[in-house]
Amino acid sequence: MKVFLFLLIAALLALGQKGGFVPGQKRAPEDPAEVSKGKTLYQVDCRGCHGPDLRGGDMGGPNLLRSQAALTDQHGELIVPIIHGSRQKMGMPAINISDADAQAVAAYVRSVVGAIEVQGMPPSAGHVDPDILVGNAAEGKAYFDAKCASCHSADGDMKAFVASVKDQKKLQSAWVSGGGKGSEPSPKRNPTAEVTLPSGEKVSGLVLRMDEFLITLQLPDGAERSFDRISLTNPEIVIHDPMERHRQLLGEYSDKDIHDVTAYLETLK
Ligand code: HEC
Ligand code: HEC
Repeated sequence: MKVFLFLLIAALLALGQKGGFVPGQKRAPEDPAEVSKGKTLYQVDCRGCHGPDLRGGDMGGPNLLRSQAALTDQHGELIVPIIHGSRQKMGMPAINISDADAQAVAAYVRSVVGAIEVQGMPPSAGHVDPDILVGNAAEGKAYFDAKCASCHSADGDMKAFVASVKDQKKLQSAWVSGGGKGSEPSPKRNPTAEVTLPSGEKVSGLVLRMDEFLITLQLPDGAERSFDRISLTNPEIVIHDPMERHRQLLGEYSDKDIHDVTAYLETLK
């Protein structure tokens, strides 16, 4: 028995040396294929806001190396809901990617955070905030006319919006995410849905919650009603999401586009 215990402890110690095992840190090693897929997705869907090194980016996302969610996530349970929109009110839009892709991004984020936990936190003093007003306003106007003017007007809603945001950095993160920080759910920006029941009855309302199984609507009179998403499918449930185009655009902007549009919007002040 003693010998067995000794062997067990020796084995655990050996493991500890090889794997960098830290007591209390229970995270399983990441699958390299998953991490590499997640890294690619991160560059497209997250980098603009959270930065190339996860330390925060031009468009206002916080440093993920200090994020409690990123530090304690085990298998996506904390990061995936955030990607799917649980922090929308705090300014992080829902990113329109599948569960599997969100899991891969979460694995990548954990792998970076995990490497830093082991190596020790590098000093972040060298991280200089990028100057956001390096954009070209004339090119920003051309971009706005091509990509935004179908829904927004420079002399109308955009002028009013720009006047309401003092700080340039905030302006940039606000237009990229489509604004709406802290605002109440509204059909102007939250998805609405029309459900046709087997009886032919049609019910429409603001989408309050939605998962694979259920969709919950707020009806015009304020009442809530839930429907089964498994038996009722398209065209029985038609969802209209006013911010869908904004989320698609997130994957299309280059850093230059973002700086140019911000410089242009500044001129509307
Ligand atoms: C348009 C900008 C934007 C994009 C794109 C974006 N985020 Fe965020 N993210 C934010 C903002 C703003 C917050 C802060 C929200 C809050 O206060 O909780 C945030 C918060 C987070 C947090 C929680 C940080 C904390 O406070 O613990 C995680 C994790 C996160 N984002 C991961 C991601 C991942 C992964 C992606 C890509 C799939 C992504 N984000 C894309 C802006 C963005
Ligand atoms: C397909 C339509 C569509 C396109 C294209 C579009 N937006 Fe939006 N945008 C919306 C909707 C809908 C909202 C939310 C409702 C609102 O706030 O007016 C919104 C919100 C905003 C807000 C916040 C406004 C506020 O008052 O809170 C800004 C800023 C913004 N968009 C800028 C842009 C910029 C810049 C572009 C182009 C790069 C763009 N949008 C492209 C539909 C669009």
